[in-house]
Amino acid sequence: MTFSVHPFLTGGPKLLLIGGQWVEPIGGRYFDTYNPATGELLAKVAQGEAADIDRAVTAARGALEQGPWPHMTPSERQAILLRLADLVERERENFALLDTLDMGSPIRHTRGSVGLLVDLLRYYAGMARAIHGETAETSIPGMFACTLREPVGVVGAITPWNGPLWAAVLKVGPVLATGCTLVLKPAEEASLAPLRLGELALEAGAPPGVINVVTGFGETAGARLAEHPDVDKLAFTGSDETGQKIVRASAGNLKRLTLELGGKSPHIIFADADLDAAAPAAAMAVFANSGQICSAGTRLYVDRKIYDDFVQAVARHGRGLRLGDGRDPATDLGPLVSAMQRKRVEGYLDGARADGAQFISGGDRPSDPALAGGYFVNPTVLAGVSDGMRVAREEIFGPVVAAMAFDDIDEVIARANASRFGLGAGVWTKNNATALRMGRALRAGSVWVNCYNALDPAMPSGGIKASGYGREYGRAHLDDHLNIKSLWMQG
Ligand code: NAI
Ligand code: MG
Repeated sequence: MTFSVHPFLTGGPKLLLIGGQWVEPIGGRYFDTYNPATGELLAKVAQGEAADIDRAVTAARGALEQGPWPHMTPSERQAILLRLADLVERERENFALLDTLDMGSPIRHTRGSVGLLVDLLRYYAGMARAIHGETAETSIPGMFACTLREPVGVVGAITPWNGPLWAAVLKVGPVLATGCTLVLKPAEEASLAPLRLGELALEAGAPPGVINVVTGFGETAGARLAEHPDVDKLAFTGSDETGQKIVRASAGNLKRLTLELGGKSPHIIFADADLDAAAPAAAMAVFANSGQICSAGTRLYVDRKIYDDFVQAVARHGRGLRLGDGRDPATDLGPLVSAMQRKRVEGYLDGARADGAQFISGGDRPSDPALAGGYFVNPTVLAGVSDGMRVAREEIFGPVVAAMAFDDIDEVIARANASRFGLGAGVWTKNNATALRMGRALRAGSVWVNCYNALDPAMPSGGIKASGYGREYGRAHLDDHLNIKSLWMQG
C-alpha cells in the first residue's frame, strides 16, 4: 500500500507560532516526530524552551491588552470561530490524516473526530454571544450592583497526544469565545495538528498573538508555562503525576488551574442489561483509540450470573478488531503512540501475569510481520482480576480491560468507588430504579447509562478526586475562562 505525502509535511522543519509569525526556536534545536505505525520520520519540530515560552507569553499578553483583540465584540469573536470551523471543515481530510500519521489512530476514527470538532467550534461560536453578568438587589439604599464577566487573561494550555486536534480545539475554542489569549504547548509525540490549527486561527481572523503554539518537551517548555508569573490560567490535560507537578509549579502566582487527568473508570454490567449491545460497547469503551482515552472503561464489573459468557463476548469482539496502519480505512485499531508507551503497557501485562490474572484474549503483540515496525498490542481481556492488583488500580492507557465479577448492587457501588480516580463510569441495566440509584451513587464526573463515552458540546466533562477539577464543554467551560467582577455604583 502506498500513501501520498501530507500537504502540511512537505516544507521542512515545523517552527513555533508566536505573535502571528512562524519563528525558529531560540536554542536552534529540533526534535523528530514519527508515525508510530511504521516508525517513519514525519517532520522535524522546533524544540521550544523556557525562553520561547517567555516570548509567547509576552505576545499573548500584548494581544490581550493592545491591538484589536480587547476591543472585539462578541459578534466579531463569534465570526472568527465560525470561520475557523469552516476552515477545519474544509480541511477535514487533511486534519484526519495528520492525526492518523502523528499518533496512529485509525482514519475512520480521526475523520469522525474532525466532524465532532467542527461542531464543537460552532458551539463555542454560539457561546461567545452568551456571556452574561447579573444584577443583584442589595439592601443598601440607592445602590446599583451588578457583576461583569471578564476574560481571565493569558491562558496556558498543555495537552496530551491521544487526541492532538481534539485537545487543541478544546483549548482554542473557549479562549476565542471569551476574549482570552493562549499559549498552547502540545504533546511532543503529536504536535502537528495543533500547529496547523493555530495557523488556521490566524487565517480565520484571530489577531496575531491571540493563539500561540510552542512545541517542545514537558520538563522544559511545559514546566516554564506552568510556573510563568504572567500566565493567568493553566488548562492541563494529561497524566495525574504531571498534574501534581503542575499544581506545585503554579503556586508562585496562584494561577487558576483546570486539570483533566486520567482515570480508572468502572463499567458495570447488570444481568438484566441488553447484553448484545453491552458487550461490544464494553469492548470499545476500552479498545477504542487502542485504550488511549482518559475515560476508558477499564474496570469491567460484570454480574456473576452472566460473567463467563459476557467476558467471552468482550474478548470475541476484541479478537475481531483489525489492527493496522491507521491510513487503511479497514483498520479498527492503530498502534500505541510510542515505543515507550508500549513498554509501559507491556509492563502492566507482565505484572498481571505475575499476579495470576487470566488472559482471556491478547496479552501479546500481533504476529503479522507487516505490523512489526509499529508499536502494536493486541486487545487484551483479563479475568480473575482482584481489585487490589495494579491492573485494576492504575491507568494503563493501552487496550487492556480487567474483568471482575460482582454479586450485588451495594457491593459493586463500593468497589467501583474505591478508586483514587473519578472521571467516568458506565452502567448497563434495563431497570430504571437501578439506573438512577447508580447514577447518584457513582463518584465520577460523568455517568453513562446504557451507553459509554457519550459526548456533546452542551454537556460538561471532567473529573473528581485524582481525575482533576474544572470542566470542559458546556457553559462551565466558558466560566473557567471568565472572572467575575462586582461593580457597585452608589446613586
Ligand atoms: P504527561 O502527562 O507527562 O504529558 C502530557 C503533557 O504534559 C505533554 O504535553 C507533556 O509535554 C507535558 N508535561 C510533561 N511533564 C511536564 C511538566 N513537568 N510540566 C509541564 N508539562 C509537562 O503524559 P505522558 O508522559 O505523555 O504519558 C505517560 C502516561 O500518562 C501515559 O502512559 C498515560 O497513562 C498517562 N496519560 C494520560 C492521559 C489522559 O488523558 N488521561 C493523557 C496522556 C497521558
Ligand atoms: Mg508522532
